[in-house]
Amino acid sequence: MENLIQVKNLIHIYSDNGSGKKYGIKDVTFSVEKGEFIILAGKNGSGKTTLLRHLNGLLLPTSGEVLISGINIQKNIVEIRKKVGMVFQDADSQIVGETVFDEVAFGLENLKFPRKLINEKVESTLELLSLIQLADRNPATLSGGEKRKLAIAGILVMEPDVILFDEPFSNLDYPGASNLLSLITRLNKNGITIIIATHEIEKVIDRATRMVIMDNGHIKKDGTPAELVKITEQYGIREPCSSKLNLGIMSWIN
Ligand SMILES: Nc1ncnc2c1ncn2[C@@H]1O[C@H](COP(=O)(O)OP(=O)(O)OP(=O)(O)O)[C@@H](O)[C@H]1O
Ligand SMILES: [Mg+2]
Repeated sequence: MENLIQVKNLIHIYSDNGSGKKYGIKDVTFSVEKGEFIILAGKNGSGKTTLLRHLNGLLLPTSGEVLISGINIQKNIVEIRKKVGMVFQDADSQIVGETVFDEVAFGLENLKFPRKLINEKVESTLELLSLIQLADRNPATLSGGEKRKLAIAGILVMEPDVILFDEPFSNLDYPGASNLLSLITRLNKNGITIIIATHEIEKVIDRATRMVIMDNGHIKKDGTPAELVKITEQYGIREPCSSKLNLGIMSWIN
């Protein structure tokens, strides 16, 4: 296995308009290997989003460092953003294009890919996510679930090694959530490393190879879902029903 991400003694302090220091992350050290499927679990305010934002350089460390394939993020932020994509919790904040097609083409255009190649890649990605019939729509007019798929399309088209998802299932209905779960599973089977930050572990726990539990800016536990599922409630994370009923870890999809 290859060490894809290394986080060393990461501390992040948000400056808080003179009202004192506000720690987002206190001291985090961990690494991620290629192909893992990780749940980053923790209650509200535990530091999940702050940590994810460091993994693709949206935030820079107050101290400590983040390495991707052995290279410090700050050395080559453009290259890192191609390798590590992030799907935000609020899809609106990510949308910049005037049409669905333009939105997905945006990253490739920035990298000055030839037009023909851009069109081919965008079309195949829209096909893959069943968004092709929406290609000419204004992203602002899409539903919440369609916007989240669009955000994923914009990342997939860049062929990343890692995708970070911040609460990807919030506001999705049952078919929307199960389609997304199937898609994320397929991406992981194709070799993309997945990290999902969430305080609701029930939907993804049977897919994950590893669970990292954060609390108060620290990583408190790091192990397999089977090892940790019974202790999640100490950290404000609801234990899945199947585990409560002593039926083990079960798939959330029928
Ligand atoms: N821009 C900011 N300025 C000041 N403090 C912040 C900022 N963003 C986050 N924090 C603080 O950092 C800590 C970690 O926040 P973070 O958003 O990483 O938590 P989270 O685990 O993602 O929570 P949630 O489940 O609510 O999304 C919290 O105490 C939060 O109040
Ligand atoms: Mg968050």
